[in-house]
Amino acid sequence: MARPLQSIHGQWSSRWAFVLAATGSAVGLGNIWKFPYITGENGGGAFVLVYLACLVLIGLPVMMAEILVGRRGRQNPVNSLHSLAIEEKTTQDWQYLGWLGLTAGILIMSYYSVFAGQALAYVFRNFSGVFEGVTADGATSIYNALVSDPERLLAWHTIFVIITSIVVARGVQGGLEKAVKFLMPALLAILFLLVGYAANTGIYFQQGIDFLFHADFSKLSGDSVLTAMGHAFFTLSLGMGAIMVYGSYLPKSASILKMTFAIAFADTAVALLAGMAIFPLVFANGLDIDAGPGLIFHTLPIAFGHMQGGAFFGGLFFLLLVFAAWSSAISLIEPAVAWLVENKEVSRRRASVITGLVTWSLGLLTVFSFNIASEWTVFGNTFFDLLDYLTANIMLPLGGLLIAIFVGRIMSQDSSEKELNIKPQYLYSTWRFLIRYIAPAGIIIVFLNMLWN
Ligand code: TRP
Repeated sequence: MARPLQSIHGQWSSRWAFVLAATGSAVGLGNIWKFPYITGENGGGAFVLVYLACLVLIGLPVMMAEILVGRRGRQNPVNSLHSLAIEEKTTQDWQYLGWLGLTAGILIMSYYSVFAGQALAYVFRNFSGVFEGVTADGATSIYNALVSDPERLLAWHTIFVIITSIVVARGVQGGLEKAVKFLMPALLAILFLLVGYAANTGIYFQQGIDFLFHADFSKLSGDSVLTAMGHAFFTLSLGMGAIMVYGSYLPKSASILKMTFAIAFADTAVALLAGMAIFPLVFANGLDIDAGPGLIFHTLPIAFGHMQGGAFFGGLFFLLLVFAAWSSAISLIEPAVAWLVENKEVSRRRASVITGLVTWSLGLLTVFSFNIASEWTVFGNTFFDLLDYLTANIMLPLGGLLIAIFVGRIMSQDSSEKELNIKPQYLYSTWRFLIRYIAPAGIIIVFLNMLWN
């Protein structure tokens, strides 16, 4: 495997472009769709606290490690790990870690796209005004009508896979860099609007905030801890090489530490705001807090349905959500596409088509798990549940663990110190301590705890 000086698929135009793209990758359905519903299913505050702890102690150091490997390796995750393993004179089997990542990305994309498709459907639903004055039951049944119809769900899934593949085919600088710059602030503005709306629900707002921030550890099971840790990886796009491949397009001069903090801060803010908007509505309308993946589709239309100009704001909100999902989805398939381009000498366009077809086909499992195959379960879990568990709770933390071991223990201190170039020194030492001891131990303990249960 030759290692060209410059990777074939170019560079970000600036470090800001990288921060925007990585934030675009991090902020997605994970923040607005998944975070609220898993928090609802896992009892609230204590779960949130564990998630935040995992974010800081495991997520941040692993993110820095991934960017470091990408920037040093300058290629897709498989090749970058391969060439760094050679550089560090250790076994070349580390490239298989890249493979684990490529696979995880494709599996995640297969179901991510189905929910992004639902958000897309809701853009039109909101603009059309069907939610005007809607009741809680009404909103729930409109959602159920969508997911129980395999054809409609499939159509939206197909559209989302196509638009994602098109952007990836054009290369990352083309449209995405520009789009994210406007979309992220707009999304934030509408989230504030929604939190403002939720704040008007009086005692329910308080109840929602309590649910989110009041930690009651008796509600926490071993599996909740695993889910919280898995979500820390999921929401920051870690553990599968997405941020690594983005790092490979990064100029050498940028400060990895500062960028990592900026990305994680934005990501966390969006998730917490989404929770503050959604939980008060759940309580105010007597909805099920553990409604699962449909939660935002049950709750937010009620808020929009009772707001001045709600059809417009609702449509806009879901449109922005689709954009957030879009900029994330790109990073889910980029590692596989980069691998095809760099190793199989196919064009970016063809690589995107191939990856799109694979994810689309796998996505059928999720599409059907809500309707015709909803009865096919393993221990009560549908295909979607299993895919989600396997990827977010197992594959991502496992990928993160191996990255931490590679960067913290296999790579020489000299290499990581030069690449990170952090001043003052004690910050580097803190990072090194986290990546060598705390992050791996944390992941292993959570895994063992899961097996124990
Ligand atoms: N972080 C994104 C979200 O929160 C999802 C995502 C994009 C992702 N790329 C990833 C998750 C890579 C894991 C790995 O919606």
